[in-house]
Amino acid sequence: MHDFLNRLPKAELHLHLEGSLEPELMFELAQRNGIQLPYVSVEEVRAAYQFGNLQDFLDIYYQGAEVLQTEQDFYDLTWAYLQRCSEQNVIHTEPFFDPQTHTDRGIAFETVINGIDRALRDGRQQLGISSRLILCFLRHLDESAAFETLQQAMPHRDKFIAVGLDSSERGNPPEKFARVFAAARDAGLLTVAHAGEEGPAAYIRDALDLLQVSRVDHGVRAVEDEALMQRLIDSGMALTVCPLSNTKLQVFSDMRQHNILQMLARGVKVTVNSDDPAYFGGYMTENFVALYEALGLSKTQAVQLSRNAFEVAFVSEPEKQALLARLDRFAADEGVG
Ligand code: ADE
Ligand code: ZN
Repeated sequence: MHDFLNRLPKAELHLHLEGSLEPELMFELAQRNGIQLPYVSVEEVRAAYQFGNLQDFLDIYYQGAEVLQTEQDFYDLTWAYLQRCSEQNVIHTEPFFDPQTHTDRGIAFETVINGIDRALRDGRQQLGISSRLILCFLRHLDESAAFETLQQAMPHRDKFIAVGLDSSERGNPPEKFARVFAAARDAGLLTVAHAGEEGPAAYIRDALDLLQVSRVDHGVRAVEDEALMQRLIDSGMALTVCPLSNTKLQVFSDMRQHNILQMLARGVKVTVNSDDPAYFGGYMTENFVALYEALGLSKTQAVQLSRNAFEVAFVSEPEKQALLARLDRFAADEGVG
């Protein structure tokens, strides 16, 4: 099953590039940039990755991102992630980046996006991985900071397809960003938002109504509101679910408690994603394997989860059909109906 899940053609729709920074690369970049890390070894870094909640994680994640300084650093980060994609048959990816984490430290916006964009283009050419980039606003910062970031981003409009919303969810509701999301939509950008990870189901509804998102990131707390569940099912709204993230951040105490397969059975368009793989113990294949080990994920369910992701990817219809054809061919070869 591990081999099947690794070979399964996959799309990743919820991945923070800064969350793919492995401790080995963190040390390499710290050395390259003359930065002193508060850890002496890779083992010590990994041992520090014990989180009681989202904020515990975010504090360590933002600290780790400080080693990223030059365009080459952002290239190397993105390239390392794309190599993992290649090894795991992730044939399409729509990663997030958090520009404010870097611009607030004095790194120029173009340094960040140009490094990422160059790696994504090389990924298309050298690895055959298609991609679309998503710019996330940090929701613990205020609306004016998000507007400033959107303005900095506009000269690079061709390098990203959508805006998103991440960081500390509780106390930072979607309505705080309704106007900046409206401005982004006016500029022709698509929108997504983290909602219902730690925050209440009401934040999912607000992400739909006030931010007009095309997909909800996480959304697992939708199960607490039956009317919302019915709305998600009826509208075909996608949720980008991150199983290992949810257990590492105590959204579910154990993978056996995870609700992704119940939602799949009810007809919610759920997808599997890795969120911050360097911090949560695995990339795409490991997330699928965790569902198999804890919940008995079947091959048919795995193919359906993968199909959902291709169906809601931010690509043109011909590109989508080509991606789905690769999945269909795999499923037929494997005898999965
Ligand atoms: N930033 C990186 N990972 C995140 C997550 N799981 N939730 C909110 N913000 C994040
Ligand atoms: Zn996330």
